[in-house]
Amino acid sequence: MGFLHPHGRHGPRHGGPRLSPRARPVASPGRDLALTYRGLDQAHLKGARALVRVDFNLPMNDGQVADDTRLRAALPTIERLRAGGAKIILLSHFDRPKGRPNPAMSLAPVAPALAVLMGRPVSFVSDCIGEAADAAVERLAPGDVLLMENVRFHPGEEADDPTFIQALARNGDLYVNDAFSTAHRAHASTAGLAHKLPAFAGEAMRRELDALEAALGSPMHPVLGVVGGSKVSTKLDLLCNLTRKLDALAIGGGMANTFLFANGVDVADSYCEKDLADTAREIMASAKAGGCELLLPLDVVVAERLEAGAPATTRPLDSIKPGERILDAGPRTVARLMNAMDKARTLIWNGPLGVFEVPPFDHATNAAARHAGALAKSGKLIAVAGGGDTVSALNQAGAADDFTFVSTAGGAFLEWMEGKTLPGVAALQH
Ligand code: 3PG
Ligand code: MG
Repeated sequence: MGFLHPHGRHGPRHGGPRLSPRARPVASPGRDLALTYRGLDQAHLKGARALVRVDFNLPMNDGQVADDTRLRAALPTIERLRAGGAKIILLSHFDRPKGRPNPAMSLAPVAPALAVLMGRPVSFVSDCIGEAADAAVERLAPGDVLLMENVRFHPGEEADDPTFIQALARNGDLYVNDAFSTAHRAHASTAGLAHKLPAFAGEAMRRELDALEAALGSPMHPVLGVVGGSKVSTKLDLLCNLTRKLDALAIGGGMANTFLFANGVDVADSYCEKDLADTAREIMASAKAGGCELLLPLDVVVAERLEAGAPATTRPLDSIKPGERILDAGPRTVARLMNAMDKARTLIWNGPLGVFEVPPFDHATNAAARHAGALAKSGKLIAVAGGGDTVSALNQAGAADDFTFVSTAGGAFLEWMEGKTLPGVAALQH
């Protein structure tokens, strides 16, 4: 199973599932529709200006790249374009600046981090369209790499606006999409450009599509899901869909608090979206109706402050005290999750179980990740994970390399799991 590690700590491996190098059929779970797309082997690269959509929406900490997985994922495409003599122009979003320039969401700190990884200079330009962008592209020689500023500083990006697409396209002879993790967005740089310029799937995109199809196209049951993290409101819809597909679903992280609250638990000062209690109840009902066993926390780790080394206490659900916040899953919860992993054949994991960035609230995530990794390593479980935070958490636990496949994608990963059409993948179809 080692071949399904395209984004493991040691970088891409070769020898993955091989399809025809030309038209690659892509079938996503639950759909018959076969997509075909062109790889870089079919692109004329010499001297061409390649607009490359990457996903450098990286976990950052105080202006420093906290996890460079997505940078490393882009290297094979950049190297291939360089070797072919293309001028490489990297486009990405970072965070959600809502169509306005925002210095706190600049991609500027990413250029030096990429340069260090590549061992070559990477230039940066403070806008992705307009005079500055045009001039920066004009200066490029074959093999040069230029990173442009956050495409979401312009409202035209998320609106997939034709004028904005045209302003981007004038600096490219061809378009390469290497960002599976943003393929669920129908934006100018993820979908619009693919209709405007000759479009190709980059190396990471190809590996991701090939590996997800091989691992998840027709999963072995029982399938267990782990969904955690704090993006509660954005994930409730996904949870609803997952409960129809999976045999069991464990819910952790901040979003679990909303479910506990909906079940009448006093979550005290915990992060909780109380207005989503009805939605949480609907999801629980839909899980029950669909035969998906929902694994909510049985016990929790609480503290009064979210601080490294803060005094932490394990509590049963009925004795959380005023002023306390739930920051991790408790040991009974983790033991039951490990047991569910032992019984499962396939595991799909998105999101940490607690505030894994702040010890000691990393215990549940670390323990569960290592258990899943060990099962996958011994061939007992197909363990697939996705999501920026998830990748960081698995790396921190030292479990990422043992997983069958670690995707760099978050929302796109889950939407793929639901069998939805991803606009960024569909736009590469020819
Ligand atoms: C991600 O990090 O999941 C992708 O970069 C997409 O980001 P978005 O959810 O802001 O579109
Ligand atoms: Mg997202």
